[in-house]
Amino acid sequence: MKNSVKILTGLATIALGVVLYLDTRLPCHTEPEDSQQRLLSQTTFQQEPIRPIPDSLPLSSQKVRLGEMLFHDVNLSHNKTLSCASCHDLQKGGTDGRALPITAENQKAKLPNAPVFNSPTVFNSSFNFVQGWEGKTRNLEQQAGIPLFNVFEMGNTTWSTILNYLSQSANYRSMFRELYKTTTILPEQVIDAISEFERSLFTPNARFDLYLKGDQTTLTAYELDGYQLFKDRGCISCHHGVNVGGNMFQKAGIFKPLFENVDYMNNNEKLFKVPSLRNIAVTAPYFHDGSIEHLEEAVDLMAKHQLGITLPQDENNKIQAFLKTLTGQYKGRVLSYE
Ligand code: HEC
Ligand code: HEC
Repeated sequence: MKNSVKILTGLATIALGVVLYLDTRLPCHTEPEDSQQRLLSQTTFQQEPIRPIPDSLPLSSQKVRLGEMLFHDVNLSHNKTLSCASCHDLQKGGTDGRALPITAENQKAKLPNAPVFNSPTVFNSSFNFVQGWEGKTRNLEQQAGIPLFNVFEMGNTTWSTILNYLSQSANYRSMFRELYKTTTILPEQVIDAISEFERSLFTPNARFDLYLKGDQTTLTAYELDGYQLFKDRGCISCHHGVNVGGNMFQKAGIFKPLFENVDYMNNNEKLFKVPSLRNIAVTAPYFHDGSIEHLEEAVDLMAKHQLGITLPQDENNKIQAFLKTLTGQYKGRVLSYE
């Protein structure tokens, strides 16, 4: 009895699903030809588990300009040697291209059992649900305060050194005054401008996004095969949404630990934010410790450790070809690693 109720409810759900599905699929009879086309291509893109990056975002261009100066200013570090851009170089895909940051050796010497993290890209970080590999900060505002005061990053001990420097510059003084209408520069204004600049670091118009937006000719059959495999083999279950990642925590190795005998991995109980795969072709090396140099190996390890499968070489190649279509544009230019 219980079973037949279950079956009936199941059938009713499927029937409802079909009706809803048809309802969204069928273009209205009275629509003219071209809007039918539009409807169809919109429907196609809405059903994909990856969403395109928006073409524009509402941002204050004045704040972005100020934030850009702050982001590139080495005088914001305690010994005037590092800016945010030292580790997040916009010409290098928003990273430093290194396995570990330039300051890693000091950090390893002082904290031998703590993780030292690879510098992730700052491009599209505003679309991640939390910031950093472990997601310790919830948004860009919270995050921006960390490197300014981290001894292994910009090393300041108080805001006053930063604020003194800024208020001695006539240029900064007038920019802050114009924007925030206060006579003195405040910490939250510095954070606000840097964060707004970071929000401007989004990369629309990757070839894959053009495809999602309805351009059926932009991807080769080979790249489309790669996308199909990315879905069929299960990569999509963790890497999806607008950032192709960046919206959940997962272990580094569901089937098999990626990192064994590492203290901080806590017997593989440690969780990481699933990283975004946007612009992945220009942000090597890979993984939280920067230990993997080539995309091919990263894909191979993911298949083995996260999905418990060994990918044949041709499938690996196709998935890489798909991943390379995720490189987007900043200021109208396709991102590259220079
Ligand atoms: C010495 C190198 C270094 C400097 C300087 C630096 N960062 Fe980072 N940044 C890193 C590393 C390493 C991480 C990863 C840290 C973690 O996961 O805990 C990171 C993470 C981030 C993230 C998180 C990205 C994401 O999607 O998870 C953002 C945003 C960021 N940094 C912005 C900044 C800003 C803004 C500044 C300047 C105020 C800055 N960084 C200075 C190395 C650096
Ligand atoms: C169970 C969730 C999960 C699945 C499934 C998964 N990944 Fe990942 N992926 C992760 C996590 C977590 C990391 C970060 C691991 C680390 O850095 O230690 C990651 C990292 C990566 C990286 C490196 C990103 C970077 O910036 O360093 C690539 C490339 C990647 N995955 C591709 C894939 C591909 C291709 C597949 C399918 C074959 C796949 N992933 C399947 C969770 C997953």
